[in-house]
Amino acid sequence: MHNSMKELVLEATDIVDLVGERVTLHRRGRDYVGLCPFHEVVPKKKLFKCFACGAGGDVFKFVMLSQRVEFREALNILAKRAGIALKPETQADRALAAKRDLIRKSLDWARSHFRRELAESDSARAARAYAAHRGLLDETIEKFALGFAADDWSGLITAAGRVGVSRDDLLAAGLVVTSESGRTYDKFRNRLMFPICDGQGRVVAFGGRTLGDDPAKYMNSPETPLFSKSRILYAMDVARQAIEKSRQAIIVEGYVDAVMLHQAGFDNVVATLGTALTEAHVKQLIPAAETIFMCFDGDAAGLKAADRAVEIALSHPADVRVVVLPDDQDPDDLIRAAGPGAFKSLLHSAIGALEFKWNSIRTVVDAGGPAKQKEAIDSFIRFVAQSGLSGHLDETSQAVVIGRISDLLNVPTRLIYEQVATARGASRRTPAAPAPTSSDESDYDESVRGLPGGLVSAVEELFGFVIGAGSLSERADQHLATSVCYCPPWATLLGTIRRLAELSEAWSQEALLASLDAPDICDLVSRTLRRFRSRANYEHCRPDDEQTLHDALCARVAAEMELLRIQNIPSKWRDANATREAQQDAFAAMLRIKQRRSECLPTERILWRMGRR
Ligand code: UTP
Ligand code: MN
Repeated sequence: MHNSMKELVLEATDIVDLVGERVTLHRRGRDYVGLCPFHEVVPKKKLFKCFACGAGGDVFKFVMLSQRVEFREALNILAKRAGIALKPETQADRALAAKRDLIRKSLDWARSHFRRELAESDSARAARAYAAHRGLLDETIEKFALGFAADDWSGLITAAGRVGVSRDDLLAAGLVVTSESGRTYDKFRNRLMFPICDGQGRVVAFGGRTLGDDPAKYMNSPETPLFSKSRILYAMDVARQAIEKSRQAIIVEGYVDAVMLHQAGFDNVVATLGTALTEAHVKQLIPAAETIFMCFDGDAAGLKAADRAVEIALSHPADVRVVVLPDDQDPDDLIRAAGPGAFKSLLHSAIGALEFKWNSIRTVVDAGGPAKQKEAIDSFIRFVAQSGLSGHLDETSQAVVIGRISDLLNVPTRLIYEQVATARGASRRTPAAPAPTSSDESDYDESVRGLPGGLVSAVEELFGFVIGAGSLSERADQHLATSVCYCPPWATLLGTIRRLAELSEAWSQEALLASLDAPDICDLVSRTLRRFRSRANYEHCRPDDEQTLHDALCARVAAEMELLRIQNIPSKWRDANATREAQQDAFAAMLRIKQRRSECLPTERILWRMGRR
């Protein structure tokens, strides 16, 4: 029954239409590609694939990802879209569906009741004054449908009775509580009410802030069939469009913080509901958000939460940046004291998740003096090996994380791979990583196998920059050209880009995508973009930084190429048959290259001193 219904809906859904409603698609042979989020659509198999983040699947998965709903809901949405009536299948299903409906109705009604109370009721005078005192504008109160729960044990119950919402419905919705003696009373009393909505803007719970001196400053609805605290992000419904548009999301810890930030123009803010950040939270934001800013209070609890959140974030393909607020302030305090600009510059100075972790490890280790640097690197890599890389990361994500560490510490990726392997071996209790399945291995992976990891990441990043910026500078062209002999797909891609650039100076990513057809090249492009986007600073880079980034990427490719040459030179100067002159030349060349490379990558010098090379 389940399956046939699923099949019926699948049959009736045209994936090109469906994806096309959200993404502009272009034909490429039998398939379609789209820009942002680079969905590739294979109509025959009814599958889509996201170029940038690797997400892919069928029509159900597409709806689950793009509208952030669970499978069941995706089935409903698509069935409705296709005009198919979905019958709840079993008695239990029917009962649950009915219960959800009742809860929804009660919550909907309660939201309008609380709103009306705040807007009109005499007893809400103090609440209105409180809202004004906190700087909440009327339009903000309206936008977030804020309300007021009266200072009364049965205000809601009585009002509900008048419109035919029963006590049982209120109970199921978590709006009232039954005491041991069997008395039922309002759960939320004398509180400013924040409706909590699912991704589609349907209210699923409430959070309430006390207006008096209740020791429970905030109170949330209990878990219900509609509400799970660890899955829902407050303001997701309001922020979704802005997140998709900016491809950035900001996570804060408080309702008021979220609301006030929206009011100050940060319209891509969501909040956790007084819980730690979970996998489910992060998954909701990805793939819409490529950059996720996580804001934490500067106190010990905030730093601990940040530490934990970083671990979760590390196993996802997003650029996660940590914002630590100064002096026990929260974002609301900050913008009230110093204005929205202060928050903005805090975002600009946010540090990457890995860097955050690195800093906290280094702070500890540095206490012992500079000789401890190696120990810091080791324990950092051990941490990464055991948390992020211990279980479920596929090879591409691993490569992304390792590429980031390599950037951060300026340590060649090969060394990090070795250390991760050692760290894994050392912790026998960590389950071994699943063997990569051959289907995960693409032709492109094959082409770069055996090449130095640093060269691969440097070339891919430079390609990513070129494609991302839609322009091939002369310098980038030169540097790429010196490296393409090592990997045929690089040569093909560079050739394609050159042809496009000849046709028009400002060629678009769309044009590039549309002109690709070999799977290994598509894979390469998706890797370069992913790598490039996961690079820290691009999105919020000032225009003049772009040039700096461009130059740094070119310099890195050059350094990696020289490193390759170094590896060949020693054999020449050790070669007894070579002329003395040739030996001396080779030796001098090697010294020159080592010198230049150490200028380009400062931590190389540290590694040298540590005797690792
Ligand atoms: P804070 O205590 O930092 O409060 O809680 P806040 O957001 O700054 O609130 P204001 O500015 O005093 O109004 C942060 C978040 O932690 C959860 C809530 O989600 C709150 O928004 N929390 C806090 C609770 O769930 N229960 C509490 O008793 C306190
Ligand atoms: Mn606050």
